[in-house]
Amino acid sequence: MAQSSKSRAARKTSAWFQRHANDPHVKRARKEGKRSRAAFKLTEILDQHALVIKKNAVIVDLGCAPGSWSVELAKRVGPDGLVIGIDLLPLEPITGVTLIQGDFDSPEGQQKLAEALQGRAVDLVVSDMAPEMSGNKLVDQMRMIGLNEMTLHFARQYLRNGGDILMKTFMGEGYDAFRRDFGSSFQKIKNIKPAASRKSSSEFFLLGKSFHQ
Ligand SMILES: C[S@@+](CC[C@H](N)C(=O)[O-])C[C@H]1O[C@@H](n2cnc3c(N)ncnc32)[C@H](O)[C@@H]1O
Repeated sequence: MAQSSKSRAARKTSAWFQRHANDPHVKRARKEGKRSRAAFKLTEILDQHALVIKKNAVIVDLGCAPGSWSVELAKRVGPDGLVIGIDLLPLEPITGVTLIQGDFDSPEGQQKLAEALQGRAVDLVVSDMAPEMSGNKLVDQMRMIGLNEMTLHFARQYLRNGGDILMKTFMGEGYDAFRRDFGSSFQKIKNIKPAASRKSSSEFFLLGKSFHQ
């Protein structure tokens, strides 16, 4: 029994590597020197959904490792802007980005973000965070919604009026109630499944435009 489940796990891993190696977005990311294929999800959303990033904007990137979103955001805000990224994992430095290694979902992580912001209001919050998958669909879904709720709470504290938010989420238990709460703080909301997001994944992105208290 143990052996058969082990070989099932091994088969799953090898199928993942096969899919990864053949993925056109992975190949393109390598060719263009991006830190990950996730870069294309962000650029597609920014460009196709008119999410304009002003030079000198203040942006917080939640769950930023290995850093492809932060690299792109730093390019767009320019030297007068501020990009702050936080992740559980360590990252190679990125020019123009203040990196924090820590847990966003902890008082210490929140404190470090507040310190990095130094009282500046935020123009855009982006989150590509996902919980570590336990394999239990309901547990993973509830953890995802928990991260989404924390992200919304953070945005309500730091976004300027008129600011925007983009966050990854999963469709499932707790999503409808979360979306209603999310919708009460933004003038326009949209669900987006970028082409670079694997069809087999239940992830998609919630875009909230024009924050209001
Ligand atoms: C899909 S990756 C992000 C990829 C990134 N957008 C990029 O372009 O390189 C998701 C990240 O979320 C991070 N993460 C998950 N939960 C977190 C938490 N509570 N605090 C900080 N980072 C978290 C993970 O460590 C992981 O690196």
